[in-house]
Amino acid sequence: MSSNKRITTTVIQERKVAGKAITMLTAYDFSMAKFLDEAEVDMLLVGDSLGNVVLGYDSTLPVTIEDMIHHGKAVCRGAKRAMVVVDMPFMSYQVSTEQAVANAGRIMKETGAQAVKLEGGQEIADAVRAIVRAGIPVVGHLGLTPQSVHSLGGFKVQGKEEKGAQKLLDDAKCLEESGAFAVVLECVPALLAQKVTDSIAIPTIGIGAGVYCDGQVLVTNDLLGLFPGFTPKFVKQYANLHTQLAQGIAEYRKEVEARAFPGVEHSFKISDEVLEKLY
Ligand code: KIV
Repeated sequence: MSSNKRITTTVIQERKVAGKAITMLTAYDFSMAKFLDEAEVDMLLVGDSLGNVVLGYDSTLPVTIEDMIHHGKAVCRGAKRAMVVVDMPFMSYQVSTEQAVANAGRIMKETGAQAVKLEGGQEIADAVRAIVRAGIPVVGHLGLTPQSVHSLGGFKVQGKEEKGAQKLLDDAKCLEESGAFAVVLECVPALLAQKVTDSIAIPTIGIGAGVYCDGQVLVTNDLLGLFPGFTPKFVKQYANLHTQLAQGIAEYRKEVEARAFPGVEHSFKISDEVLEKLY
């Protein structure tokens, strides 16, 4: 029997020990959060992919703390069971440890989320330690970290060469030591993700990181087929909502133009008696 009890960091840790896969998907608003929560997805990520998916930017860099809080609040209103994780946006944790703790605290206080996520390894370890010390659960994020797209030289698979692979493994161990309770691995070879997963005691959650991770995450809009055109290799489309949406909207436009919508069944009545009194 399924339970409505909130998924906690303890439950997530137990999943790794039990070998039961963790499910995570992105959510940016109340209604999608409610759908995902009712479908018993374990973790909802208010990703800063919000910048691309919802706000129309071409990267995650312009996303602000206010954007994350606004959408984080909406997601938290829709999630009763799932753990909600909110991304800390670009430059909200890199400037100083104090600022990182203050911003993580603001996100937790104002959204009601259960955790925050930060991108990076050893270079952000002090911030992770300080945020965890303040009582805030942290998810790490390694591999293709979109906030560093310019220094990574574009969106490409990470850790294919020995140096990069070793750094990724060291970073994962460092995040574990710093107190992170899980780590997202994005766009890394499947066997490297397996090595990382086997080398740390906290769960790994993969996106484009193969089947050996302790859990999987995707951008919900990608899996629902809401974007036509380019889809990354690691995305599987479980629905084709783009086509259905386009059909529905085209039909609405045609019916409005043909005055076929609204019909009487969509309209409200007034009595002849009242109408006759009008002048
Ligand atoms: O912002 C996001 O959606 C993410 C996922 C891709 C893991 O960080």
